[in-house]
Amino acid sequence: MNRTWALQTPTTTYAVACDERGLLRSVHWGGRIDAVDDLTPGQLWDLSTNDLYADIAEEEFPLHGGFRYKEVGLRAVLADGTRELRPVVAGDTWHERGHLTIRCIDEDAGLTIDLYYRIVGDLDLIERWVVVSNTSQDRILLERIASAQFHIPFDDLRFSNVSGLWAAEFQPFTQPTGPAKLRLDSRKGVSDHRHNPSFILAGPDTTETAGPVWFGALAHPGNFFLTVEQSQYGGTSVTIGIGEDDCAVTLEPGGSFTTPPVVAGYTRQGYGRMSTTAHAYGRRLMRPGPRPVLYNSWEAAGFDVTDDGQRELATRARAIGAELFVVDDGWFGRRGQEADGLGDWWVSPEKFPRGLAPLVAHVNRLGMAFGIWVEPEMVSPNSDLYAAHPDWVHRDARHDPETSRDQLVLDLSRPDVRDHIFSVLDGLLSENAIAYLKWDANRPMAQVGPDRAVWWEHTAGLVAVVRRLREAHPEVLIEACASGGGRVDLGTLGLFDDFWPSDNTDALDRLTIQRGYSMLHPTKAMRAWITDSPNFLTQRDIPLRFRAHVAMMGSLGVGADLSSMTETELAELGVYIDQYKTWRPVIQEGALHRLDNPSPNAYQLYQFSVPERSLVFVFLPASRIGRRGTRVRLRGLEPDSRYRFTANWVEHDRSGAWLMEHGFDVWLQGDYASDVIVVDRIS
Ligand code: DGJ
Repeated sequence: MNRTWALQTPTTTYAVACDERGLLRSVHWGGRIDAVDDLTPGQLWDLSTNDLYADIAEEEFPLHGGFRYKEVGLRAVLADGTRELRPVVAGDTWHERGHLTIRCIDEDAGLTIDLYYRIVGDLDLIERWVVVSNTSQDRILLERIASAQFHIPFDDLRFSNVSGLWAAEFQPFTQPTGPAKLRLDSRKGVSDHRHNPSFILAGPDTTETAGPVWFGALAHPGNFFLTVEQSQYGGTSVTIGIGEDDCAVTLEPGGSFTTPPVVAGYTRQGYGRMSTTAHAYGRRLMRPGPRPVLYNSWEAAGFDVTDDGQRELATRARAIGAELFVVDDGWFGRRGQEADGLGDWWVSPEKFPRGLAPLVAHVNRLGMAFGIWVEPEMVSPNSDLYAAHPDWVHRDARHDPETSRDQLVLDLSRPDVRDHIFSVLDGLLSENAIAYLKWDANRPMAQVGPDRAVWWEHTAGLVAVVRRLREAHPEVLIEACASGGGRVDLGTLGLFDDFWPSDNTDALDRLTIQRGYSMLHPTKAMRAWITDSPNFLTQRDIPLRFRAHVAMMGSLGVGADLSSMTETELAELGVYIDQYKTWRPVIQEGALHRLDNPSPNAYQLYQFSVPERSLVFVFLPASRIGRRGTRVRLRGLEPDSRYRFTANWVEHDRSGAWLMEHGFDVWLQGDYASDVIVVDRIS
């Protein structure tokens, strides 16, 4: 078989071909080429007795075996211990709308590998995943099973991702690729605070608005691995999939395994276009509709939640305009502090002697929806649940289970554990008018015992439980939180409705966190709270206006202690919330542009846009170079339309072309200065 498969999107072509040796080769991933006949695999030959064809070829999904020393997509162990695979391309199926499956079969091993491709044409994206089926009479062990390998025909690329830790997530970084391989992974059972399961590879001169970018993200809320390998023979490959470290999946005879999908795209319009495309895709995965302005009790009350205290906070939250009141940790079991009570999801009789109902009624009467915090994957050793089911946690036979934050992780690969979690949460939601669940997870998995499939099965179990709960309570919004931003990825985007990027609510730190978050994740999927000053974590003092403007660049929430704020501060807070409500469709559904700052003063400029309106957020954390202003040039407007806006107290009426090519000046003064400029289309 010698043929080419081409996946066409409006501006890109992704082409794969079977070469004369029968290898499935990546031929093109880049700008669109209509002459499909031109898309043939390049000529290759052994370069030396050590540099052989199979290692040089840009294979679409290389399997372990033969002269392959490069990264592979699949490593399997057959019943006799053999690991050599020799699949051949056996056929293809074109589905509706240009979707494709290419089938490869290793008859001798009894393995079928189906490579799936789905076009998200209007967004210039493709989705890829793999199904491996065991057609033999014996068990087959999958030691590595990636979702895809991609090839980029350049060296010297720039790799971007985020790095971080608790309370410092989503710190964006870019580094050159080179002869040393890059590897990112998560081994904690969540996608993790450290990195994101995604890749961004760009040309050396790529900017926000110009230059090539190849990018992709894995839809999996658990362990992952990602390698970026610059080949000795030219070109760069990316291999991405579920975590392989300490993981192996057994395929029974007749069984099959489907990897999570990875979505990938190419643009030559820089990082900005990458982000707007990824955001549009992400929003599509999410439940439609606006996200409410919420109040959350965590920073104000800690574990000290009581009926009276929460009522008072709720009354104040309503007065400033909150639409949803969320009681955070501390309301259940014997949860006096972080050491106790997880797993006992009954209402604490000491803190809520009359149960939750009167508080929920109070909140509802005020006109707000009611939400509550849970951490369903966890159990405290000091709990009724643990006393009844000590065997339900991940543990190894030789050691006592080790705690972190005094808690243990329930084994969600067990159906009985999943059933228990479902029935407890189902009961909680059925018995109370709860409109919102904040689903937390505050420690990593560890000591998982002898079954190496458990890393995958635990995550699959989590997905199954959340889906089941959503089906039973489709009206309830569920927020994903994992000690802040420990589990934010495309897998959670389709599963949850709201996302907590970090416990760090310091507005200055948040500017960096939110920028990193914005590379691939939509604004609507980013909760941002206005909290107290000085910040509980950083002890930094920041004016309310700056704190509010930073938080308004996400799904707005308030986490401040409203009982200790003055009437003036509360009134000011109310003004921001009112403004946010009118701007919400632009912020939550619009396109985000990270604008250039041409000033030597360290301005940060962000534009949110729908066709009729743009909002330009201007921040100057510290004025360092005298009083220098900056020039704001917008993006994505209609060149011939007219727009009205007020900058520096003067109203202007200008064309889209003027706003994009010339721009207007803004001056801010002092430290922690900020402004929002509203640009309305008038014709
Ligand atoms: C970690 C979360 O990130 C916080 O927002 C808060 O919910 C605490 N857990 C509660 O224990």
